[in-house]
Amino acid sequence: MPIDVDASYEAHFREIETRAHDALAASGFDTVVIHSGSHVLRSTFDDQDWPLRPVPAFNHFIHWPSPDAFLVLSQGARTRLGYVERESFWEASFRPDLSRLERLLEPEPLKSREAARGLLPPGRAAFVGQDVALSAALDLGEPNPAILLERLEDARVEKTEFEIAALRVATQRAVEGHRAAEKAFMAGERSELALHLVYLGASNQDAFDTPYQNIVALGEAAATLHYIQYQAAAKSGARSFLLDAGATHEGYASDITRTHVQGGDGAADEFAALVRGLERGQQALIASIRVGEPFEGLHDNSHERLAGLLLESGIAKKGTSAEALVESRVTRAFYPHGLGHSLGIQTHDVGCRRTPPAEWNPFLRNTRTIAPGQVFTIEPGLYFIESLLGPVRSGPHKELVDWSKVDALKPFGGIRIEDNVVVRAQGVENLTRDAFGAAQL
Ligand code: GLY
Ligand code: MN
Ligand code: MN
Repeated sequence: MPIDVDASYEAHFREIETRAHDALAASGFDTVVIHSGSHVLRSTFDDQDWPLRPVPAFNHFIHWPSPDAFLVLSQGARTRLGYVERESFWEASFRPDLSRLERLLEPEPLKSREAARGLLPPGRAAFVGQDVALSAALDLGEPNPAILLERLEDARVEKTEFEIAALRVATQRAVEGHRAAEKAFMAGERSELALHLVYLGASNQDAFDTPYQNIVALGEAAATLHYIQYQAAAKSGARSFLLDAGATHEGYASDITRTHVQGGDGAADEFAALVRGLERGQQALIASIRVGEPFEGLHDNSHERLAGLLLESGIAKKGTSAEALVESRVTRAFYPHGLGHSLGIQTHDVGCRRTPPAEWNPFLRNTRTIAPGQVFTIEPGLYFIESLLGPVRSGPHKELVDWSKVDALKPFGGIRIEDNVVVRAQGVENLTRDAFGAAQL
């Protein structure tokens, strides 16, 4: 059934408008001007711009992928939207669809960016945007004050039904791409570039539209966490395929990883068993998510589960305990990144790392207490990364690991399984599994 994203837009807008007014009151400003953005040159030696990534605080209200729109929110006043209309015979102009906005704010076409100054009521104003020079030139308010930014970011942590619906659509698009790329890999495709293009075609997007650059890794390349150096030539011997790729809708991102194996010999079978084991652990972690618990506790638990998998697979030697693998930080060498992060307008959405993680979890981006409305990823991994395993190989805990197993599995690179989940008062919705339609275990 198609997802009706529009139906919940008005309620979303009114809710986050209230949150923004509260943020203004708490931070001592009367007004905030949020700028959609300005074009940015790719190189100062060239005349091409990057495609615009709208300022996230702007996208929270309106998906407007065009520069020089100014949203003006003031306590006790109707919200205004000024936008510069440009005609150019070089580029197609952005044609805004104002139909769902007119009940919510005052849209006001502007003759120039300078006219934006006229949108501000008297009082203390803040400017939120990337183009701080523009704000200074037009006197649009104090640029990006930390006290207000922090509150606006906090206001993005609990998603509205509109945002969850947009994330569902973004997930469905990504899942089409994942299905097609898996099928191509299983049919024998061994060019990373070709798999990347299959993904883009099936998810119906240009590379710039993806929320982050697709991670498309065959074989050993999967050990590079953010591998984007797709090889056009076939890697004919590769038997594993890690694809971390998403899509956007209304500016909201999905972020999904799957790892596939093809083979049949002993090592491929062992790697396939590891993939299944990691996926089982990932699903158990999702089932254990509880409102009121710290996210970091889940992350620590994912290391205990990984220790169990290392023992079960024989990568950790018999006689070693799960506690020893965690306490010695050997599991951190096999799985160095965080269990997950908040997801929304940004792939690594903001507002969930207000307090630092424990010193042994340096890359964890979510230290919040789990609460209804949060959307985050659950993405445990297991990799054979020589720069991290090397020091263990030669260090005081080298006896915990069967290095011949590690060497046999290294050509497969690594595993990550990543789903996107919504926390509800009564449990968790798994957007990714819902979109795939059926449990894949
Ligand atoms: N795709 C980047 C991440 O999973 O965080
Ligand atoms: Mn992620
Ligand atoms: Mn990812």
